[in-house]
Amino acid sequence: MTEPVIHVHGLVKDHVSNFLRKRFRALDGLNLTVQKGETFGLLGPNGAGKTTTQKLLLGLLKPTSGVVQVLGHEPGDHRALARIGFLPENPYFYAYLTAYEFLDFFAALFDIHGARRKERIAELLKLVNLTEARDRPVRKFSKGMMQRLGVAQALLNDPDLVFFDEPNSGLDPIGRRDIRNIMLSLKEQGKTIFFNSHMLPDVRDICDRVGVLHRGKLIGEGTVDEICSGGNYQDLEEYFMTLINAAEDEYRKTGNVTPYHIEREGVR
Ligand SMILES: Nc1ncnc2c1ncn2[C@@H]1O[C@H](COP(=O)(O)OP(=O)(O)OP(=O)(O)O)[C@@H](O)[C@H]1O
Ligand SMILES: [Mg+2]
Repeated sequence: MTEPVIHVHGLVKDHVSNFLRKRFRALDGLNLTVQKGETFGLLGPNGAGKTTTQKLLLGLLKPTSGVVQVLGHEPGDHRALARIGFLPENPYFYAYLTAYEFLDFFAALFDIHGARRKERIAELLKLVNLTEARDRPVRKFSKGMMQRLGVAQALLNDPDLVFFDEPNSGLDPIGRRDIRNIMLSLKEQGKTIFFNSHMLPDVRDICDRVGVLHRGKLIGEGTVDEICSGGNYQDLEEYFMTLINAAEDEYRKTGNVTPYHIEREGVR
């Protein structure tokens, strides 16, 4: 019997601009379930709503309407957050801290103390290949090194559920391979991974299942094996392009300017 770790039903998110209070529908009736131990890849063009989805799952944004449950709790519930790791799309680092001090600070926030703290930080620095850079200030790190440090930070609390928002963006091929291997090892450990990415070959290697978002709507969902071995598509890229092109044609045909610019009575 599988256990849903993420359950989303009819999720709608309107962003309201400060200027003229215009509404912008970033997510439009999203339904999604991710089971325990699954690696789920959320794909979609820029602006499709992937980061918005992760932020809603983490409780960093509030939904306009719909149901969201993460690890059996409302998003943002501290019981769920204690079991979650998160690598944001644009992680922020305290530039004057060293890699070790940065991780030490976050370990303290997670209530990891004493010898266990030192041990955990050393394990993670090794995992992301930053042991040699442990005493260098983060401001001297390259983009790839920062990304690795972000991954280490996301794993400090040994989370059951990990959110990665484009973990492989800006990395060289070695960095990409390292991140891919870390994710595969997390998967082997039975962690649930929710992953946004544009790197379709990596998604192919890592994910069990993918969903495709287009203008806030889920237009396709399936296991990677079904998609790539079902005979309809050569690879994930062909699947992605076929779905997005069809959805975009449909969108243009209707001449519909929603859901990107929705103005509602009473909003102004
Ligand atoms: N705080 C905000 N206020 C207003 N609009 C927003 C806000 N955050 C996101 N949006 C809009 O919502 C839509 C979805 O954004 P989101 O960041 O979720 O896209 P994404 O799929 O993660 O894109 P990318 O691949 O570029 O990271 C975009 O059109 C974006 O402009
Ligand atoms: Mg994004």
